[in-house]
Amino acid sequence: MRILIVVGTRPEAIKMAPVILALKKEPWVQVRVLATAQHRHMLDQVLNFFDIVPDIDLDIMRPNQALSTLTARLLLDLDDVLQVEKPDAVLVQGDTTTVMTVALACFYHRIPIGHVEAGLRTWDMQSPFPEEANRVIAGKLARWHFAPTEGSRQNLLKEGVPNAEIIVTGNTVIDALLMTAAKDLELPVPLDPAKRLVLVTSHRRENFGEPFRNICRALRTLALNNPSVQFLYPVHPNPNVKDVAYEFLAGLHNFTLCEPLDYAPFIAAMKRAYIILTDSGGVQEEAPALGKPVLVLRDETERPEAVEQGVVKLVGPNYDAIVQEAQRLLDDELAYKAMARGVSPYGDGHAAERIVKTLREHFA
Ligand code: UD1
Ligand code: UDP
Repeated sequence: MRILIVVGTRPEAIKMAPVILALKKEPWVQVRVLATAQHRHMLDQVLNFFDIVPDIDLDIMRPNQALSTLTARLLLDLDDVLQVEKPDAVLVQGDTTTVMTVALACFYHRIPIGHVEAGLRTWDMQSPFPEEANRVIAGKLARWHFAPTEGSRQNLLKEGVPNAEIIVTGNTVIDALLMTAAKDLELPVPLDPAKRLVLVTSHRRENFGEPFRNICRALRTLALNNPSVQFLYPVHPNPNVKDVAYEFLAGLHNFTLCEPLDYAPFIAAMKRAYIILTDSGGVQEEAPALGKPVLVLRDETERPEAVEQGVVKLVGPNYDAIVQEAQRLLDDELAYKAMARGVSPYGDGHAAERIVKTLREHFA
């Protein structure tokens, strides 16, 4: 049996690493890893950390590449790869352009795909853009749907996916987190031990333009109003994010902007953080498991479980809500404690084992 596992961006590599490592231990399968390299540096960093060397690398990233160009170039390259590799199954993770394109290419080549992190939905094609469409398309074409939660299973059932094709596994992001958080982690930048840390990440395309400028204005206000709190923002390299972030936030004495952090130092920063402001999917999943309150810089989320448990709150790309809710967490200890409870609705660290078990039972 040959299973081809595809990774394109940083979060795909983080969430697929536990699956790759677990599947490589199985005697019945030959595992091949394909990096589309939709991300370059951020992907390489994670693969190095987990000691994974791709068998094939499409090196598809170009600076500020349009989505249609990325999709078209990927589809052509994937044709060649699938013809040569002839895998019995292909695994993809999440909702990136890589995932949607690989699902389509595999459909054309009549190769079954397993979708890891299946069934996340906002039911709004415009948000997150283009991820909602990417995961709906992957979900239509998948043979195995590895749903992280019962809620994501219900979403798939609503779309008519047969129950027998859905396996609730938990999210592999928690497998990766537990593997990493157990290590001796070093902080990425010097931090004042006496000061609280607000950690920020933001990169969503539907926030580009005015919404992202509002986020930056709110962060600036918070930094100016709280000189004794330190802020750390590893900036996503997408130029639509990076240029604006530096325009608004560079030069503040208590605000550190830096390059994307390597995975382990980022986990160290999350552990050290007092609160986290983010529009990232993965960070929304990891932070509750570390007991860190999260304010989500989006109007909706496909990850409602932590919101329902009261440890994540949606503030949107909304200046007033961001300033008000972050300030409340900094000033009101009771409000803070209510959100800093340490729950893990997205996984128990054994998701990859369940995925491998399903494939073993099918193929071995
Ligand atoms: C992509 C995914 C998004 C995911 C995010 C995780 C799509 C459409 N978007 O967004 O779902 O949440 O990754 O981070 O699939 N760049 C670099 N170096 C890197 C990576 C990116 O310079 O290592 C720059 C390049 O200019 C690149 C741009 O960022 O063209 C955008 O990258 P792309 O993968 O198209 O989209 P992201 O915004 O990163
Ligand atoms: N992450 C990282 N370095 C950073 C910021 C995030 O390693 O500077 C990790 C984080 O721990 C999480 C993942 O990257 O596992 C999230 O990726 P991202 O926010 O880029 O994408 P999303 O999850 O929104 O698709």
